[in-house]
Order: sequence, then structure tokens, then C-alpha cells
Amino acid sequence: MSDLSYFGRTVKHLVICSLTACLFFLPLHHAFADAQKGKQLFQQNCAQCHNPLRDATGPALYGKENEVPGGRKWIYNWVHNSAAVIASGDKYAVNLFNQWNHVQMPPFPQLSTQDIDDILDYVKQVGDEAKQAASAPAATAGQAGGGAAPASNNNLLYGIITLVLAVVALILLQVNNSLNRMANEKEGIETPEPVPFYRNKTYIAIVSLVLFLVAGYFLTNAAVNIGRQQNYEPTQPIFYSHRVHAGINQINCLYCHAGAEKSQHAMIPSQNICMNCHMAINSYSGPQLYTPEGKPVDGTAEIQKLYYYAGWDPKQRKYVNAGHPIQWVKIHNLPDFVYFSHEQHVAVGKIQCQICHGPIQNMDVVYQYSDLSMGWCVNCHRTTKVNFADNAYYSNIFMKYHEELKEGKIDSVTEAMLGGTECQRCHY
Ligand code: HEC
Ligand code: HEC
Ligand code: HEC
Ligand code: HEC
Ligand code: HEC
Ligand code: HEC
Repeated sequence: MSDLSYFGRTVKHLVICSLTACLFFLPLHHAFADAQKGKQLFQQNCAQCHNPLRDATGPALYGKENEVPGGRKWIYNWVHNSAAVIASGDKYAVNLFNQWNHVQMPPFPQLSTQDIDDILDYVKQVGDEAKQAASAPAATAGQAGGGAAPASNNNLLYGIITLVLAVVALILLQVNNSLNRMANEKEGIETPEPVPFYRNKTYIAIVSLVLFLVAGYFLTNAAVNIGRQQNYEPTQPIFYSHRVHAGINQINCLYCHAGAEKSQHAMIPSQNICMNCHMAINSYSGPQLYTPEGKPVDGTAEIQKLYYYAGWDPKQRKYVNAGHPIQWVKIHNLPDFVYFSHEQHVAVGKIQCQICHGPIQNMDVVYQYSDLSMGWCVNCHRTTKVNFADNAYYSNIFMKYHEELKEGKIDSVTEAMLGGTECQRCHY
């Protein structure tokens, strides 16, 4: 075998390698590695108290790395042991702690600085994307470049690299063909005339493969995002604040969402339930309320809107017409092919509303706290210990686990052990 054809084969390998690299490695790496890790760490460790964009039990984290003294380095110390930073007399830390009513953030010594970087990158990504989405309608083509988020910059970069690699691959293919022909001629073998590129099987195969993968990539992305809308926060017909009702005035969630305990749906209360209290409460004198955009809200005027919907005349103190239904915008929306029951989780599972819905009692405007993805449901089913032994619901079923618990073979039962990861439990 001649040196030339050996060289030709090496070139062929190069072609295959560079194509594989640009098609698989780049998009996959970008989509899954960093963002996914940071998101996971954030949700496991921080999400119960922090939202990237809004104050919750702790402050909103977006942009904090530019505000704290010493940037990320300060945050490493803080996350590893915030009590130590406060005790050291750090002015910023002491102020913060006082502002947040001495709520102690737990220490996370197990997180490496790389882990914390991943978390902060995730927070930054969420924040940048939200900002970009908020400014998108206003931004003109000319301004777009300035505020573009790193995510889309990366996409552009990967796109360019992919294109360059593809061109290199095509050139190498040409070289390979010529080398083959030269080698054959040298050994006296007839070479057929080169096929034009549009009939060349290799080209056709490569182009089809590229189209197939690109289409597949966008399709799966679109499918994974069906109906996903974490942080969705629509404007409602009445500015009704959960912080005022469930927080400051301590009204029980079930007073308004009675369905959560006894049916599949938690239900939004009718205006009759509102009127139980608001026949008497016709003005608002609590703390000043603001829309998420920062505009002040007149609570008393909002209560007047309720009267309009209820058909109530506050002067005559009686109902004067049948009223109009309040068209609350639904925030949480599972796709129709998923079965979810509140009763099973709230009454049987004894899971707090806040585990799934976040700190609702601190929200003036409700937003979707969990992503409601399949992974979210299944992860919890894998890790959550079911209240099993002394739960009437289970007293006559899964006898095997009752015995194993008694014999000490297992010390707890998770929802996954009861079949909570089987497809048909959640999909009809
Ligand atoms: C149990 C609730 C809780 C958890 C969990 C929690 N934090 Fe906090 N965090 C707080 C509170 C409350 C504050 C405000 C300061 C204080 O009171 O100690 C805070 C403050 C911070 C600050 C400083 C913010 C500022 O305004 O400068 C950062 C950064 C931070 N947390 C990051 C994290 C990260 C990262 C995680 C996850 C690894 C995390 N926190 C988990 C409650 C929590
Ligand atoms: C006084 C009545 C009242 C109380 C008390 C109340 N809510 Fe609500 N809740 C409403 C109304 C009205 C809406 C619809 C308007 C909105 O989304 O803000 C709503 C909406 C919601 C939503 C979003 C529903 C959707 O559209 O997907 C959730 C989740 C929720 N409430 C949870 C809670 C939790 C948890 C508590 C207790 C901490 C609670 N609520 C207490 C009246 C109440
Ligand atoms: C159990 C009693 C109770 C129920 C039920 C109730 N409210 Fe209220 N509402 C209050 C109290 C207490 C205040 C605060 C008054 C104050 O601080 O001056 C308030 C304040 C308000 C305000 C002004 C503050 C804000 O949140 O914007 C509005 C608007 C309002 N309620 C709407 C509603 C609506 C709509 C419903 C039904 C979904 C409802 N309320 C159900 C007790 C109730
Ligand atoms: C295990 C997680 C989980 C728990 C716990 C939970 N919810 Fe939900 N909630 C959901 C999901 C998922 C949806 C979306 C359901 C849908 O679209 O069919 C939802 C929807 C809602 C809605 C919108 C109306 C409806 O019924 O679809 C309200 C209101 C609500 N939840 C209130 C509550 C209250 C109040 C509690 C506590 C008593 C609670 N939830 C506990 C997961 C949970
Ligand atoms: C916070 C943890 C948590 C989350 C999140 C969660 N679940 Fe569950 N789920 C449980 C627990 C715990 C049980 C068992 C309750 C019991 O029966 O004691 C359960 C039970 C169920 C069951 C009954 C299974 C059976 O044994 O028959 C279904 C169906 C279900 N969940 C669906 C869902 C769906 C769909 C989602 C996501 C939209 C979801 N769950 C999210 C904790 C969770
Ligand atoms: C604990 C509940 C639960 C179980 C168990 C479960 N799913 Fe899902 N599945 C969901 C939820 C919730 C969604 C909606 C996700 C979304 O909207 O992003 C979903 C979505 C899907 C989708 C649509 C694609 C997507 O990601 O949106 C497919 C396909 C699917 N599930 C297949 C399965 C198969 C196959 C199994 C069994 C191996 C299974 N599911 C088990 C809750 C579950």
C-alpha cells in the first residue's frame, strides 16, 4: 500500500473526527454541562430560600456578585459559613443580617468554589435571560448587540466554530479525493471521472446528517419546553396580595384553596369567599404595595374593583347586580397528559404547599416557583420518604414493606418504592 493512500486514510479520519466534534460535542456541551450543574446545585441547596430575581426568605441573588465587597471571593466565604463572616465584624455582612431580621443562612462547607461558581453562573444566566426577555420588545436591531446575554453570544460562537469546522472538513474531503486519484494513477488504476458534488454520496450523506441533527436538536428543545413557564408572573384583574392575606393577616391557605385537601385541584376562590371579609373591610391601610415593575398600588382602589366584580354597592351595603366573574390568569399549567392530585400530596403525603409553590406568603404577586418538569416530580418521588407506617391510607397495602420495616430490613419507604416513578401513575 502506498504512502499516498495511507495519507489519504489519515485525512479521512481527520474529516470524521472534526465532523463528530462540531456536531455532537459543541451543542451538547453548551446545553447540558454548566447550566445544568449550576441549576441542580441551586435547586438542591439554595432555592428554598433564594430566587435569582426576587426577594424571598433571602435576598434575590442576581447581580449580587457586583454589590458585595470583594465579589465572588466574598461570596465563597459567605456561603461556606455566613455566621463566621458576620462574626468577623464585616460591615456589609452585619448590615445584611440585620436587614433580614437575623435569619441565619445555613453553612455549606461541602460546596467547592467551582460549585459556587456554577451556581452564580446559573443565577446570572437566569437573570440575563429575564432581562433580555423584558427588554426584547423595546430593543431595536441597532441596540440589540450591546445587551446580548452571554448565552446567545456562546451560541453565536459555537455556530461560527461549527461552520469553520464544516468548511475545513469539506476541504479535507476534496484533498482526500485528489490524493486517492493521484495514488491510483501512480499504480496505474483507472479512476472514474469525479462525480459532481450534488451527486456525490458522501456530500449528500453529510448534508442530510447535519440537517437531521440540527432539526432534532431544535425539536427536542421545543418538546422539553412544552408549557414550561417557571417564574411566570402574569398581571391579574385585581392586585390581590398573598403577602397581605396569607402573610401579614395569617389567613390559612385552605380557607381559600379548600380543594387542595380534598380534590385533585386546589381551586381559586370565588368572589363570595372574598366578600365574607370584604363586606366589612372596604379600605386598605397596610404597608405600601408595589407592582413588580415598582409602581405603587392603591389597595383601597383594588378592593373597589372587587366590589364591581361582586356586584356589591358599598354605600347601600348590599348586592345590586349579579356581578361579573373575575378572570384570574392561571399561573401553574401542567400539560393535559399529566395526572396530578393535590389531595394525594397535601392530605395523604402531608407536603407543605411551600415545598412546591415557594414562599407564597411573601409574594405580592404569585409567580411559578417550580419548573413543573417531569424531572422535578420524579426526583422528589425518589428522595421523599413517605409517611408510611402510621398512615391509614397504607394500613392494608404494601404489606411487604410493613414487614420489612418491622424486621428492620429497611428504615423508610420512598414514593418511588410505591411505584411513583412508573409512567402510568402520572400519564394516563
Ligand atoms: C435557609 C435559607 C437560606 C438558604 C438555604 C440559603 N440562603 Fe443565602 N441567604 C439567606 C438569608 C436570610 C440571607 C440574608 C442574610 C442573612 O440574614 O443572613 C442570605 C444571603 C445570601 C447572600 C448575600 C446576598 C446579599 O444581599 O449580599 C448570598 C450571596 C447567598 N445568600 C447565597 C446563597 C447560596 C449560593 C445558597 C445555596 C448554596 C444559599 N444562599 C442558601 C438564606 C438562605
Ligand atoms: C384570601 C384568599 C387566599 C388565601 C388565604 C390564599 N390564596 Fe392563593 N390564591 C388566591 C387567589 C384569589 C388566587 C388567584 C390570583 C393570583 O394568582 O394571585 C390565588 C392563587 C394562588 C396560586 C397560583 C394559582 C395558579 O394560577 O396557578 C397558588 C400556588 C396559591 N394561590 C397558593 C396559596 C398558598 C400556598 C396559600 C397559603 C400560604 C394561599 N394561596 C393563600 C387566594 C388566596
Ligand atoms: C379572611 C378575610 C379575607 C378574605 C377571605 C379576603 N380578604 Fe382581602 N383583605 C383582608 C384583610 C385583613 C386585608 C388587609 C386590610 C388592611 O390591612 O387594611 C385585605 C386586603 C385586601 C386588598 C388590598 C390589599 C391588596 O392585597 O391589594 C385587596 C385588593 C383584597 N383584600 C382583595 C381580596 C380578594 C380578591 C379576596 C378573594 C380572593 C380577598 N381579598 C379575600 C381580608 C380578607
Ligand atoms: C407536590 C407539589 C405540590 C404541593 C405540595 C401543592 N401544590 Fe399546588 N400545584 C402543584 C402543581 C403541579 C400544580 C399545577 C396543577 C395543574 O396544572 O393541574 C398546582 C396548582 C395549584 C393551584 C392552581 C389551581 C389548581 O388547582 O390547579 C393552586 C391554587 C395551588 N396549587 C395551591 C396549593 C395550595 C394552597 C397548597 C397547599 C395546601 C398546594 N398547592 C400544595 C403542586 C403542588
Ligand atoms: C415535594 C415532593 C413531590 C413532588 C415535587 C411531587 N410529588 Fe408526587 N408524591 C410525593 C409523595 C411523598 C407521594 C406519596 C404520598 C402518599 O401517598 O403518602 C406522591 C404521590 C404521587 C402520586 C400517587 C402515586 C401512587 O402511589 O399512586 C402521583 C400520581 C404523583 N405523586 C404525581 C406527581 C406529579 C405528576 C408530580 C409533578 C407535577 C409530583 N407528583 C410531584 C411527593 C412529590
Ligand atoms: C412523577 C410523575 C411522572 C412520571 C412517573 C413520569 N412522568 Fe413523564 N412527565 C411528567 C410531567 C409532569 C411531564 C410534563 C413535563 C413538562 O411539561 O415539561 C411529563 C412529560 C413527559 C413527556 C413529554 C416530553 C417532555 O419532556 O415534556 C414524555 C414523552 C414522558 N413524560 C414520558 C414518560 C415515560 C416514558 C415515563 C416512564 C418511564 C414517565 N414519563 C414517567 C411526569 C411524570
